Amino acid sequence: MISAGRALQASVDFLADRLPIQKMSFHSLVRQKEVPVHRMGWAYYLGGLALFFFLVQLATGLMLLFYYQPTVSDAHASVDYITHNVVGGALVRNLHAWAASALIATVLLHLLTTFAMKAFEKPRELTWLSGVFLLLLTFGFGFTGYLLPWNQIAVNATKVGLQSIVQAGQYLPGPLADVPARIKEIIQGEPAVGQATLSRFYAVHVIVLPLIVFGLLGVHLLSVQLHGMSPGVDRPTGRSERFFPFFVLRDFWLWGLVFFGLFTVALCLPFDSFSSFPLFQPFDALGSTPDGVKPEWYFYFVYYPLELLPFWVVMLGQNVVVAALLAAPWLFSRTSRRSLRVLTAIAALYLIVITVFGHAIYVAFKGVR
Ligand code: HEM
Repeated sequence: MISAGRALQASVDFLADRLPIQKMSFHSLVRQKEVPVHRMGWAYYLGGLALFFFLVQLATGLMLLFYYQPTVSDAHASVDYITHNVVGGALVRNLHAWAASALIATVLLHLLTTFAMKAFEKPRELTWLSGVFLLLLTFGFGFTGYLLPWNQIAVNATKVGLQSIVQAGQYLPGPLADVPARIKEIIQGEPAVGQATLSRFYAVHVIVLPLIVFGLLGVHLLSVQLHGMSPGVDRPTGRSERFFPFFVLRDFWLWGLVFFGLFTVALCLPFDSFSSFPLFQPFDALGSTPDGVKPEWYFYFVYYPLELLPFWVVMLGQNVVVAALLAAPWLFSRTSRRSLRVLTAIAALYLIVITVFGHAIYVAFKGVR
C-alpha cells in the first residue's frame, strides 16, 4: 500500500516537473520565450513544418470527406469521381498525397535532429515521448489511408502488411502464439480483407487517429512552450532571438514558401504517376495479384529487410529500435552530443540507402526484377 502510494506520488512529481502548468501565462508562453541561435538553429523550424503539413492534411482530408464513399462497391468510383468530376478534386487529392509524404519525411527529420541535439533530456522527456507516439501515429495514418481508394495496389499491399502480423506468432511461446492472428482478425474485421476492413481503416483514419493526435500534440506543444527550446549544442553561443514575433514570423514565411512548392507540385505532378497503371484499377477479388505491389516509400525501411532477411531478425530489430526510442531520455542521458550525432548519421544513412536503393539491393541479392 505504501509502495503504491509512493509510486503514485513519484508519478505526480514527475508530471509536475515536466508540465509546470503554474508557469502558464501569455507572457511566459509567448512573449518571454527565446530561441537559441547556433549552427543547428535551422532544426528548430522542423517541428513547426511538421505541424504545417499536419494542418494541410486536416484541411484537404476534410474536403475529400465530402465526396469519398467508404464502401467496397463505391470507394474506388468515388475517388475517381473526385479526380475527374469535382472542381479542384485532383488538386486536393494530390495535395493530400504529397503532403502525407512530406509530413512523414519532416517528422523523421525532426526526430533525427532532436535526437542529435539531445533535446530529449530532462525536463523534456514528455515532449520526446509524445513525439515518438506521434511518429507511430503518423505511420498509422499512412497505413490506413493507403487502403481507402480500394485499388489493386492498396488492397494487395494491405493484405501483405496484415499477413506479416500473423507471422510473428510462430516465434511466440504456447498460448501467446495465437495472439498476432487474433490481432490481425480484429484489425481486418472479417476472414479476408473486405468491407469490415475498409470500414475500420476509414474510422481509424478519419476519427480515431486524429483525436489521439490532437491530444498528443497538445501535450507536445504545451511542454515545448513551457520549457522553451533546448540549448541544442554543447557550447551554446549565448545568443538567442525572441520567439515572438521574430521566430514566429520566419516560421510563417517558411510555411508560405513550402505551401507554394507543395501547391506547384500538386498542380503539375499527380502523385500516382510513379506507379504503373494496372495498380490503380479497382481491386478485383477474383483476379491475380498484379506485379509491382509495394507499400508507400516510407515503409521501405521495413519492407525490403522483410523481403531479404529472416522475419524474426527484422521484428527483433524493429522492436529494439522502438524500445530504444521510448527509453532514449534515460538510455542516452550520459551520451555526449558528439556520439548522438554519430548514431543519428548511421540511422539517417540507413533510411536513405534502403529507401532510395532498396529495390536495387533486392535485385542484387535475389537476382530477380
Ligand atoms: C506530427 C508530428 C509532430 C509535430 C507536429 C511536432 C511539432 C513540434 C513543434 C512545433 C516543436 C517546437 C519547434 C521545434 O523545436 O521544432 C516541437 C519540438 C520538439 N519535438 Fe516535435 N513534433 C512532432 C513529432 C515529433 C517526434 C516524432 C519527435 C521525436 C521523437 C519529437 C520531439 C520533439 C522534441 C524533443 C522537441 C523539443 C525541441 C527543443 O526543445 O529543442 N517531435 N515539435
